[in-house]
Amino acid sequence: MEKTPVVSMKNITKTFGKVVANEDVSLDVYAGEILSLLGENGSGKTTLMNMLSGIYFPDKGQILINGKEVSIESPKDALDLHIGMVHQHFKLIDVLTAAENIILGLKGKLNVKEAVAKIKEICDKYGFDIDPEKKIYDMSVSEKQTVEIVKVLYRGADILILDEPTAVLTPQETEKLFNVVRNMKEDGKSIIIITHKMHEVEEISDRVAVLRKGRFIGDMITSETNAEEMTNMMVGRSVSLNIDRPEPVNPKDRIKVENLCVKGEGGVLKIDNVSFTARSGEILGIAGISGCGQKELLEAIAGLQKTESGKITYIEDDGTEESLLGKNPQDITDMGISLSFVPEDRLGMGLVGSMDLPGNMMLRSFRKGNAFFPDKKAPEELAEQVVKDLEVATPDIHTPVRRLSGGNVQKVLVGREIALAPKVLMTAYAVRGLDINASYTIYDLINKQKEKGVAVIFVGEDLDVLLELSDRIMVLCGGKVSGIVDGRTTDKKTVGRMMTELGGGKEA
Ligand SMILES: Nc1ncnc2c1ncn2[C@@H]1O[C@H](COP(=O)(O)OP(=O)(O)OP(=O)(O)O)[C@@H](O)[C@H]1O
Ligand SMILES: [Mg+2]
Repeated sequence: MEKTPVVSMKNITKTFGKVVANEDVSLDVYAGEILSLLGENGSGKTTLMNMLSGIYFPDKGQILINGKEVSIESPKDALDLHIGMVHQHFKLIDVLTAAENIILGLKGKLNVKEAVAKIKEICDKYGFDIDPEKKIYDMSVSEKQTVEIVKVLYRGADILILDEPTAVLTPQETEKLFNVVRNMKEDGKSIIIITHKMHEVEEISDRVAVLRKGRFIGDMITSETNAEEMTNMMVGRSVSLNIDRPEPVNPKDRIKVENLCVKGEGGVLKIDNVSFTARSGEILGIAGISGCGQKELLEAIAGLQKTESGKITYIEDDGTEESLLGKNPQDITDMGISLSFVPEDRLGMGLVGSMDLPGNMMLRSFRKGNAFFPDKKAPEELAEQVVKDLEVATPDIHTPVRRLSGGNVQKVLVGREIALAPKVLMTAYAVRGLDINASYTIYDLINKQKEKGVAVIFVGEDLDVLLELSDRIMVLCGGKVSGIVDGRTTDKKTVGRMMTELGGGKEA
């Protein structure tokens, strides 16, 4: 006899105005299985899951839970059916503790002490590691995510939907999350996980379902497919997953950082005596475990971070040197130095949700001199170019960016910064949340800037990508330079060792 799926979505269609987010999608999920949901940015993954979790209601189609047709009209309806979703953007109240957040809104007696005990029980059972009495504002992104997951478990979820949980996690944190997910599976729960990282799909899921442009394309047993097949199904044609590394042409010193020290919160040194040079026409990769000073370093160069001591110098084509210290961020931007930092919290990314694409392009620049918007055509052209280069899924450039899917919003941000970096492009976590095709397009665009003579400083978390893309790699370890190596000759093991052990490698 065939097993009855715990969730069965049948012929689901959902539109937003002219946009068909899901079209005739059918998807089954079984007890005790981990299902990956894969698809390009804007392919309808979040929308489909939002219909299971009671955020949206389908225009057409049916949802069956344990074989019985249901109508899910609110998140509460979903929880009553034991469905819980952890969203791309967290919904926690900062000033409350984990436990208070977890029981918030629950009916009946609210006894925090009992809640804490029950939370500890859940944590022990599945292997979570949080302090229920810690305030949210004291928590890291990964801890906040844990609270969200524990919250839905506390409320009795047996079907868990995790929307891009790993986009904001370090590899180590991802490993921890996956262990918890495996424990939940052992316990008979069903987990649907959205991720753009193929190696994660391969590592964690039993089965993978692919959406393309709102339609269900197919599903496979994960062990019977591979990254190439999945990518081709997502994109609908075969794509090559290669990163070029053109030789630098006539590299010249562009940014010189000498003995830089930057203090972080609580007065601890986040950047400790860092020296390096970034050259025009070259990509300098920066590797390091998360929080080892990458953010502070880029922000110091961009004028967004107070420095303690040391020098940051910008060198013009003719060799003239100009100190960047003491300059304000706008002056530094106007010199042609661009920073695109995709933060863990992708909402506050330097875009205004209610504005359309040209509006957001205009925000960034085009304010030379006193004339506010001297050239109305430029932002529109730039918006059109970004939409074309990065295949941004949007009805047109005049759609407010908040209507775009998470990844498409990000393409607008990163596309804007790459296009507007005439001299120096600094980018951190540029491909967070981007589908694989878009990620490779970004690498391509960065390479094009390099070939135009831009000095690129690229902070990434994927070592494979850093090793393929960078001309040189500077490895940071605890705020210090562990070494600078040649991207063409070094290997993953060496860089990995230098990330955890100061000076584990040689100068290049
Ligand atoms: N509230 C909304 N109003 C208008 N359009 C929307 C809304 N929500 C989603 N869409 C559109 O529906 C389509 C699917 O979006 P969805 O967020 O489901 O994509 P996704 O697969 O989750 O993408 P990503 O990987 O970027 O998160 C997109 O074209 C998006 O712009
Ligand atoms: Mg999404």
